[in-house]
Amino acid sequence: MKRHLLSAADLTRDDAELVLTTAAEMRALADRPIKKLPALRGRTVVNLFFEDSTRTRISFEAAAKRLSADVINFAAKGSSLSKGESLKDTALTLEAMGADAVVVRHGSSGAPHRLAHSGWVRSSVVNAGDGTHEHPTQALLDAFTMWTHLGESKPGGLEGRRVAIVGDVLHSRVARSNALLLRTLGAEVTLVAPPTLLPVGIESWPVETSYDLDAVIPKADAVMMLRVQRERMNGGFFPTPREYSRRYGLDARRMATLQDHTIVMHPGPMVRGMEITADVADSPRSVIVEQVTNGVAVRMAVLYLLLGGSEPAVGATEGEE
Ligand code: NCD
Repeated sequence: MKRHLLSAADLTRDDAELVLTTAAEMRALADRPIKKLPALRGRTVVNLFFEDSTRTRISFEAAAKRLSADVINFAAKGSSLSKGESLKDTALTLEAMGADAVVVRHGSSGAPHRLAHSGWVRSSVVNAGDGTHEHPTQALLDAFTMWTHLGESKPGGLEGRRVAIVGDVLHSRVARSNALLLRTLGAEVTLVAPPTLLPVGIESWPVETSYDLDAVIPKADAVMMLRVQRERMNGGFFPTPREYSRRYGLDARRMATLQDHTIVMHPGPMVRGMEITADVADSPRSVIVEQVTNGVAVRMAVLYLLLGGSEPAVGATEGEE
């Protein structure tokens, strides 16, 4: 693996499958009485969050702690970032504190890339979501969840599987990272959205596109719903929320057209009643809560592989300390 994880495109198929198999070992650990490994003892992971987050921040924190790393949480609110301190000065501070990995979420696309390639820090940089650009660890946890349900947790398990990603693709870093990673893993992705919510240049993405949800979902093995990101919108992208839900929302009637094995996913946060109804979100097909659990295992795998080197994480280091 490369030193940084900035884009899902940084991962070769071997890298991605190594993350998935390592995450499976980490996931098994969650069922043991002692959930902690000494693998990253003495290492420091800094969570640098310039944008709001619930799941992702807590997930990285839990992941680093389960690997025995020291964790420093640094949120924009309540720090000198809200006094106008620059990314560069923040980076220099982190470097002075001896961070081994910096997990960064930022409202501007490309901020993690800048941090990684500026020479300001020596640590590994992990992109935890940058603007509307990428969110590679979300794509990895989504792929892991699909792989356990649809791919028998085996290498190559997602080959030929069909994934529909539905909704506000335009503002979604989750959609972009998923499209890239799923392609690498051999799955076929169809993006479903109104024309106004598909990005310019979508032709260059490795995906099919459709405006017709009812035509796509009966063929899908996984249906991933996306939140309509109103905080990133400054105009009318669709007539009314009701009209949006009618054409692009997943409700019980539409869910009834899915194949028996098809899973329903959502990266969260959900707007129940908008892109997904409550009965669908809470149905047995929904793996939304499982995605959150898997997020910790996948982020443990990523931090371990970026920082821990080549020793097996589970087993060899166990009982040593
Ligand atoms: C997403 C994000 O922040 O990009 N959420 C997440 O990380 N779980 C999607 C969203 O905000 O809708």
